[in-house]
Amino acid sequence: MLLWASLLGLAAVSERLATTPQSVISLQPPWTTVFRGERINLTCNGFHVSAPAKVKWYRKNFGKRYPSETPGNTLEVRDSGEYKCQARGSLLSNPVNLLFSTGSFILQAPHSVFEGDALVLRCQKRGKEKLIAVKYTRNGKVIANSNTSVDLLIPQASLSNSGNYQCIGSLENAYILKSNSKVIRIRELFSQPKLTVTDSQPREGNSVNLSCETQHPLERPDTQLHFIFFRGSGVTLSNWSRSPEFQITAIWREDSGSYWCGAETVTRDVHKLSLPLQIEVQRIPVSGVLLETQPQGGRAVEGETLVLVCSVAEGTGDTTFSWYREGMEESLGRKRRRSQRAELEIPVVWESQAGLYYCTADNGHGLIQSEAVNVTVRSMPGNRRGLVAGGATGGTLSFLLLAVALLFYCWHQRKPGDGFLGDTTRSSLTLRPGEPPRPVCPASVELRQLYGNVHLKEGDLVYSEIQFIQPGEEGQANTSRIFLEDQHASIVYSEVKTEPQNDLAGKISTKDE
Ligand SMILES: *[C@@H]1O[C@H](CO)[C@@H](O)[C@H](O)[C@H]1NC(C)=O
Ligand SMILES: *[C@@H]1O[C@H](CO)[C@@H](O)[C@H](O)[C@H]1NC(C)=O
Ligand SMILES: *[C@@H]1O[C@H](CO)[C@@H](O)[C@H](O)[C@H]1NC(C)=O
Ligand SMILES: *[C@@H]1O[C@H](CO)[C@@H](O)[C@H](O)[C@H]1NC(C)=O
Ligand SMILES: *[C@@H]1O[C@H](CO)[C@@H](O)[C@H](O)[C@H]1NC(C)=O
Repeated sequence: MLLWASLLGLAAVSERLATTPQSVISLQPPWTTVFRGERINLTCNGFHVSAPAKVKWYRKNFGKRYPSETPGNTLEVRDSGEYKCQARGSLLSNPVNLLFSTGSFILQAPHSVFEGDALVLRCQKRGKEKLIAVKYTRNGKVIANSNTSVDLLIPQASLSNSGNYQCIGSLENAYILKSNSKVIRIRELFSQPKLTVTDSQPREGNSVNLSCETQHPLERPDTQLHFIFFRGSGVTLSNWSRSPEFQITAIWREDSGSYWCGAETVTRDVHKLSLPLQIEVQRIPVSGVLLETQPQGGRAVEGETLVLVCSVAEGTGDTTFSWYREGMEESLGRKRRRSQRAELEIPVVWESQAGLYYCTADNGHGLIQSEAVNVTVRSMPGNRRGLVAGGATGGTLSFLLLAVALLFYCWHQRKPGDGFLGDTTRSSLTLRPGEPPRPVCPASVELRQLYGNVHLKEGDLVYSEIQFIQPGEEGQANTSRIFLEDQHASIVYSEVKTEPQNDLAGKISTKDE
């Protein structure tokens, strides 16, 4: 593993795997090419060595090996060749090739440059003649042109700055000088991240872990990175985070698609994106649809609550549940849930609602129906049916009739000149579950006079509102709105036009709010 890693110059990110640090040679001055007769100090750094200690050196030139040892970690050298070192407790370093040139015009370059580092190149001339111009070339193309000898600076090197560099100098006497050429390979600070997932075909609703894996060179094991995860074209799943892992606690079919991750140095100089990874979330079709009741076995009690529980044995994702009573075309209620069960509550059940009930469930692979449950409603002497019981079977129309009946009942209850028209405060008649309304006037029925300033004589038109407010949760069915699926219970019957004579022919229009 370590051999393989050092061959590639890469080590796993994990601290645990990078067991033994590698020795690293640094140069002073930083150039690998100097003029013959100059000297270079090589320093061998082992990561765990704080104080200088004995270091082994290996020089190789034209096939000959020259081992040596220094008491400290610095070796002053003046001979060309390939140098390696080994500090105590560390692995052998990568080689450094030094050239002590006999020429008079050289290109100086650093030993090792990583992405994001500054790359500095220097053309040097020795001897009497003065340079009047210098060009830097890469792969034969001029990349910088100057009429004095100045350094070439690339502030943040990238892999594309790799190439074969050379200097071309012009002398006063029109002579052209060419330096040694130098192949510079900008090294990866970290490898392109690879996105992996615990399961690329996860079952809907399951959790998956994404991992953004990248590798660091042994010489730069401490580069601090942060990571980001995306889906599709630009849906960011996480902000930049020091963790290369991201957990999707529950994945759904609509989350299928391409995923990417990005890694970046915390200084933001170097960033890399992974290749896309395809995730196909598997939906399990609905099966084993079952209707159960509370009370169990469909044994409901008149005036009490009946809950219809629809469940599926298998099935993932958004499921549409619907409840039906046999013989009725419309559903009693419908709910869309990311769940394997849903409930429909009938707060007050009446004898007339006995019958066969069933439910259906569908998550996009076809509708599956449950077996029917025979719901019987046992009547209790205490639970007298009110007027509203008719509304349970007759629907909205019965309700309108009830409203009109109440209106006229109250109209005839009123004494001449009492507050019927004068009270302009708006309130409402509230039907409480389990309590069939009694037509009580005038305390519980207030008709709001819409035109308060109009002086009314008998025979004039009166525009009023009656509000029936039945608070309840979404999808909760009750006697008055069992046919109104997933709507709010507040039904306002407005603009009830009446005439004071014993003439029942009133004009009624309705408005659902
Ligand atoms: C190398 O190091 C020695 C001791 O620190 C110093 O005397 C010498 O000047 C250095 N040589 C170079 C080329 O930096
Ligand atoms: C060359 O140097 C002179 C001054 O020494 C300067 O004015 C001129 O702009 C330079 N030319 C180029 C091409 O850099
Ligand atoms: C995903 O990551 C969480 C937390 O990091 C961990 O508890 C869980 O076991 C991981 N799941 C898998 C399938 O690796
Ligand atoms: C993401 O992180 C950056 C800093 O790294 C922060 O400025 C920004 O507000 C964060 N965005 C969100 C949506 O958390
Ligand atoms: C439902 O049960 C009642 C009482 O047991 C029975 O009289 C009725 O016939 C049953 N209805 C159906 C459709 O099976």
